[in-house]
Amino acid sequence: MSKRVTVFGTGYLGATHAACMAEIGHEVLGVDIDAAKIAKLEAGEVPFYEPGLDEVLKRNIEAGRLRFTTSYEEAAAWGDIHFLGVGTPQRRGEYAADLRFVNSVVEKLAPLVTKPAVIFGKSTVPVGTAANLGELARELSPAGEGLEVAWNPEFLREGFAVEDTLRPDRLVLGVDRDRPGRAEEVLREIYAPILELGMPFIVTDLATAELVKVAANSFLATKISFINAMAELCEAAGADVTVLADAIGHDKRIGRKFLNAGVGFGGGCLPKDIRAFMARAGELGAEHALTFLREVDNINMRRRTRMVEISRELVGGSLLGSRVAVLGAAFKPDSDDVRDSPALNVAGQLQLQGATVNVFDPKAMENARREFPTLGYSASTEEACQGADLVLVVTEWKQFRELVPADLNKIVRRKRIFDGRNCIDPQVWRAAGWTYRGLGRP
Ligand SMILES: NC(=O)c1ccc[n+]([C@@H]2O[C@H](COP(=O)([O-])OP(=O)(O)OC[C@H]3O[C@@H](n4cnc5c(N)ncnc54)[C@H](O)[C@@H]3O)[C@@H](O)[C@H]2O)c1
Repeated sequence: MSKRVTVFGTGYLGATHAACMAEIGHEVLGVDIDAAKIAKLEAGEVPFYEPGLDEVLKRNIEAGRLRFTTSYEEAAAWGDIHFLGVGTPQRRGEYAADLRFVNSVVEKLAPLVTKPAVIFGKSTVPVGTAANLGELARELSPAGEGLEVAWNPEFLREGFAVEDTLRPDRLVLGVDRDRPGRAEEVLREIYAPILELGMPFIVTDLATAELVKVAANSFLATKISFINAMAELCEAAGADVTVLADAIGHDKRIGRKFLNAGVGFGGGCLPKDIRAFMARAGELGAEHALTFLREVDNINMRRRTRMVEISRELVGGSLLGSRVAVLGAAFKPDSDDVRDSPALNVAGQLQLQGATVNVFDPKAMENARREFPTLGYSASTEEACQGADLVLVVTEWKQFRELVPADLNKIVRRKRIFDGRNCIDPQVWRAAGWTYRGLGRP
């Protein structure tokens, strides 16, 4: 049955969630404090790049099921089911998460809620946040105990966000065990069309639900850093980490996914989530349990430095005066997200060491320019590679994976390619007279 739903925060998570809730038949109001973003969404335009989201957005706006606003008053009056999907970035100069945005939603919304309602948190938060927000909500709302806070962490992957929202691997809901309310019943109704597909629905307490999300991200980060540590070993021993990954990946207990050695992870989630997890563990007196995450973070950051060092070696010992083409700016393909992107981090370091850097990314140019305005930018792969002494592949977009030497032979000054994602075939490039370098392979 169709329900009235609001979604607070219309970024990568929230805009996708809002559009997908409309797609499964609900009447949805998306809310953000960023008026420019809301204007774009109202006009049917996705303010970022996410494959397939624009069609879902347009279709549901046209069907009259999806609207957007900056007004909390309108949102509070519209419905009694509220999703919260605002950002929880890393605090400046600290590891901990900045909770001001999630707090602000509850501080502004709760006083406007006069009838029983449920807030379903979707943002990734430190364990204990949901309980605190519940207390705050009950304190500030005229509905008092009638305003419930439950946690429904989000596991979507950028690049597959629509698919992951409509067909998730599992759904997790944390409820306040001290105040049995309507949250589970309400969420089962909301997600009925999704649950029909038969995925696991795990209902637990608030703390476990919050921890599930950060535990999952910590595991993924650890898996990536594990294979990158193996890449360091392979580099030292003259072995090939890609073959090693294939071989150990055949073991079902290990699995091949997330074992691609390269320049490491970035983005708006993994780096800040593992850091916030460490900070929270410290507050709880359990920091020893997560000291390994510090090493996971270190291994990851070392890959970026290593990429700069190898680049320097490849151009003959000094980057000064060299021209480097950087293919990729987004933290991963099929996204325009450049938050903590290894690609831009490497590009920035190369430039600081005297290289002329030309960055090209199929979708992330605008975001990259905003974050790193002093880097050089090009309108195409060919333009970026013009006269280059070295070509770096740092984001494994399909169009970079499919590059062949003939595309660049006549454009570059020196035939040198450094594959920071181990995503192109060394043999093909070497056969065409190129110097090929990967990470963790001879
Ligand atoms: N991006 C992902 O792939 C992903 C996946 C799973 C979980 N998450 C989590 O979801 C949360 C949001 O991430 P994101 O990537 O969508 O961030 P984002 O920065 O793209 O979006 C956050 C949005 O919240 C808005 N906002 C801030 N304060 C607000 C307020 N008081 N009221 C209404 N809107 C407000 C911002 O204007 C922005 O549009 C984070 O906790 C993140 O860790 C993200």
